[in-house]
Amino acid sequence: MKFKKASPLKGEVHIPGDKSISHRSVMFGSIAKGTTQISHFLQGADCLSTISCFQKMGVAIENNGDSVIVRGNGLRGLKRPDTVLDCGNSGTTTRLISGILSAQNFDVTVTGDESIQKRPMKRIIEPLSLMGAQIESLRQNGCAPLHITGRPLQAIHYHSRIPSAQVKSAILLAGLYADGETRVTEDYVSRNHSELMLRSFGADVRCEGTTAIIRPAGELYGKQITVPGDISSAAPFLAAGLLVPGSELLIRQVGINPTRDGILHVCRAMGAGITLMNEQDASGEPTADILVKSSSLHGTVIEGAIIPTLIDELPMIAVMACFAEGTTIIKDAAELKVKESNRLEVMVKNLSAMGADVTETADGMIIRGGKPLHGAVIDSLLDHRIAMTFAVAGLCAEGETEILGAECVNISYPGFYEDLMKLMR
Ligand code: S3P
Repeated sequence: MKFKKASPLKGEVHIPGDKSISHRSVMFGSIAKGTTQISHFLQGADCLSTISCFQKMGVAIENNGDSVIVRGNGLRGLKRPDTVLDCGNSGTTTRLISGILSAQNFDVTVTGDESIQKRPMKRIIEPLSLMGAQIESLRQNGCAPLHITGRPLQAIHYHSRIPSAQVKSAILLAGLYADGETRVTEDYVSRNHSELMLRSFGADVRCEGTTAIIRPAGELYGKQITVPGDISSAAPFLAAGLLVPGSELLIRQVGINPTRDGILHVCRAMGAGITLMNEQDASGEPTADILVKSSSLHGTVIEGAIIPTLIDELPMIAVMACFAEGTTIIKDAAELKVKESNRLEVMVKNLSAMGADVTETADGMIIRGGKPLHGAVIDSLLDHRIAMTFAVAGLCAEGETEILGAECVNISYPGFYEDLMKLMR
């Protein structure tokens, strides 16, 4: 896929459903009693992996395109699958499902694609084992494939060294089946979609500061869910609208949960012209339309508690920083090294190839903005966020940018390129 410098972007874009919330709606619907009807479900490959895993465990799930109907089996109604559970490229599926499987009365093997088999799973193996789960990394390398044998679980209070919603959610899901109150404390709060949705399904979940607390459940109960647009999928449009001179975009129905909205704070800190309109609620999650106008940006420092609220948007923010006046410093973001690719390394390599002045640090990047970018051949390494990020960089650079493996955007945003092209007509 090739990109060149864009004329102003104009119009509206409807962002697909939130990936994190789509995963959770199917998972929690599967272990609830009754029917969960999900509208605006993300039809990305990752969420389809979640559907397929629960279908293999005997849950009736009907996927009608935009909407999905889950006829749940109840908290103790999952069946032993005949085959390995394949989570594809999805870290969320792999880690959250492991929390559920730790408490079942069967054993199962969970794995995924090449990228998943390199991603760290010790972060869930350790706390779930402390709860009594039996989880073996089959290659003894702390990664998938994982063989999980369900066991009766004990409640724990776990201090997670990394703020990670995947780790927190895996523990909370295991906590549904434990013998008492389970607590997870993080240094900074990670996205709280599990807590919000589990509570709406009838679980006893609460938060005290940076600690999430869950009590074992008798049953969860299915419900109707409308998934908000994914702010991570809105990020390329935010950036393109800000960076391509003369642009004005309306990004519709974007989830703006405060544990996810860090990019909006950073945009404002960089001097961006963004306005939130039509603020609403989608099944307990706040949403808004975002009006973006092209703006002159300046550098900023991004560190500490805001990092988990924009972790998936940092590659896009790094591109914004290249076009900002002055220096942008990103710290406390070592987690980027263990995403679908090593996003720190990939960003620094590819931005440098386009002529940016960027330095990798132990836990982030330093970007000296204001140097014009030129086109280059960019290997996405099949990381969907990298492909989308460099599509936008290509719209702002002189010459031609070619993205290799561009089709990987299907993981989180099928139709991304079409939606982007529509704004250029
Ligand atoms: C996710 C949490 C984040 C994020 C990922 C989705 C989730 O990962 O990067 O894309 O749905 O819980 P970590 O929790 O590992 O930071």
